[in-house]
Amino acid sequence: MLTDELKEKLVQTALQACQWSYSPYSHYAVGAALLTRSGRIYDGANIENAAYPTSICAERVAAFKAVSEGDLEFEAVAVVTRNGGTPCGSCRQVLSEFGLDAAVLIADGEGKIVQETTVRELLPGAFGPQKLVE
Ligand code: THU
Repeated sequence: MLTDELKEKLVQTALQACQWSYSPYSHYAVGAALLTRSGRIYDGANIENAAYPTSICAERVAAFKAVSEGDLEFEAVAVVTRNGGTPCGSCRQVLSEFGLDAAVLIADGEGKIVQETTVRELLPGAFGPQKLVE
């Protein structure tokens, strides 16, 4: 169960992860913390590149860390930016694959949760694995 204590832990972990953001081009640091059903937490920060399109968002770094360790069931993700920015479309799609009902906690630079939602709410009509076998 996603307790208030756990929410706070996710937000603080995401806030900490902001310090590892590599964002010399946008100067927009993003930190993420992803909780899986196994109880593990994976953090992530956005990593930009001089070849701009090869950059990657914080949420996907966290998601790929989890999936690459065989942890496939997402329960919640916290995303921290200075101004409470929401996950981009690509991140919504990646998150949906592993947790359509995962909670999404969006927090600002002070660690204040400004929006609490779910991946399903953020990506209505998501394209999922089921579509490929129907
Ligand atoms: N960014 C994220 O890390 N997550 C999002 O969901 C939105 C955007 C990053 C990408 C880029 O490094 C910077 O924020 C500005 O777009």
